[in-house]
Amino acid sequence: MNHTCRIELDGRSYELPVVEGTENERAVDISSLRSHTGYITLDDGYGNTGSCTSAITYIDGEQGILRYRGIPIEDLAEQSSFVEAAWLVIFGHLPTSTDRERFSALLTANSQLPQSMLKHFDAFPPHAHPMAILSAMINTLSCHEPPQAEITDDAGLERAAARLMSKVRTIAAASYKASIGEPVVYPRYDYRYAENFLHMMFSLPFKEHEVTPEAAKALNLFLLLHADHEQNCSTSTVRMVASSQANLFASCAAGVCALWGPLHGGANVAVIEMLQHIHDSGVNVTDYVKKVKSKNSRTRLMGFGHRVYRNFDPRSRILKKAADELLSTLHVHDPLLDIAQELADAALGDDYFIERKLYPNVDFYSGTILRAIGIPVNMFTVMFAIGRMPGWIANWKEIHDDPSTRIYRPRQVYTGNTLTEFVPRTER
Ligand code: CMC
Repeated sequence: MNHTCRIELDGRSYELPVVEGTENERAVDISSLRSHTGYITLDDGYGNTGSCTSAITYIDGEQGILRYRGIPIEDLAEQSSFVEAAWLVIFGHLPTSTDRERFSALLTANSQLPQSMLKHFDAFPPHAHPMAILSAMINTLSCHEPPQAEITDDAGLERAAARLMSKVRTIAAASYKASIGEPVVYPRYDYRYAENFLHMMFSLPFKEHEVTPEAAKALNLFLLLHADHEQNCSTSTVRMVASSQANLFASCAAGVCALWGPLHGGANVAVIEMLQHIHDSGVNVTDYVKKVKSKNSRTRLMGFGHRVYRNFDPRSRILKKAADELLSTLHVHDPLLDIAQELADAALGDDYFIERKLYPNVDFYSGTILRAIGIPVNMFTVMFAIGRMPGWIANWKEIHDDPSTRIYRPRQVYTGNTLTEFVPRTER
């Protein structure tokens, strides 16, 4: 295969190297283009830009493939757990039983928040968005952390990752408790990751919540499926911040903010709001789809479409199956799941969606699972953030470990005023 690319600019020919990934994905390395030609490349929204090479997650959007460190998501969903998948994503290979036990013990040992941090929750107004609290509290956590210099090897990173992953879960539950005016519930040392979260969310000081195995299993799966997804908006943000040599906590706090928006992690809230709106207003699914397709409408079919997947998002298939199973085990009928299915059927048979290759994404069915286990809608994106933490940590590690990392600093094509004279105030 040809390992260079020839381009012609202003009548001159240049050769650029071609980089090939382990799954044969090819990229033209344009890093020397400007110094040789004076040109930069322009790629609005980075739709065709590889911002880095990475060995963490592989996606084939045409075929609907997702693998963490080479392992298919379907196999992990079937046979692994969130904590095991998190370790895999961060450290690059499946943990041995010793690794797993050590990491689980670290997660348990780090589940408590510093006492002084608990006071911060009182300072947020009751209606504060949990994503704002989460990002602020992750940054606050960095004030209580040993200096970044401690992360000099995998053991140091493992300790920091456990502190972050464990405390993020406690912060999330505590922010929910604060928002409903209930006292913060302390973690339990005998519970595993997902169980402990459900305990902190739903127990009361005078009444222990009974965590069911079905709820713990469903939450575990939800978190595992969100653990990483290569260079999406929030992960790219984490890498961007990390490239300035900012610490792990600051970088992940920035990731939370990027995830918040409805086109990204916030879509799981937008989907439920859309389904609820259709349910409550009684609007016909066909009419809703018509509205989505209208050129003048800004309404989108939330939970549909993806920048990379031009086929089913494999996570949505797994989540749909899990949602059906969970609801049947709990003997719950969720009318919103019926509406979701009607919408999916209408969209998948419609030329607008077929031509644009728009399929259900991870957020289309995830809300049904979260609703079934009692998670309030305003916490949905926080749940996504808890799940995505391993991916952000792994991407931070790639940046941190690579001695050739340069600060991320894109260029632009300036379209503003040309040289403009300053007019003194009295003459304006
Ligand atoms: N409903 C209706 N039309 C859509 C949708 C949708 N959900 N998504 C894309 N389109 C249309 C869009 O209007 C455009 O049409 P046209 O060519 O006529 O202008 C075409 O499809 C291409 O859309 P785009 O906005 O250029 O695509 P993108 O790659 O920039 O956006 C996306 C990807 C995920 C932001 C978008 O599909 C979307 O807004 N989906 C709904 C929000 C959502 O579910 N987000 C979660 C994404 S998955 C999890 C995550 O990333 O966190």
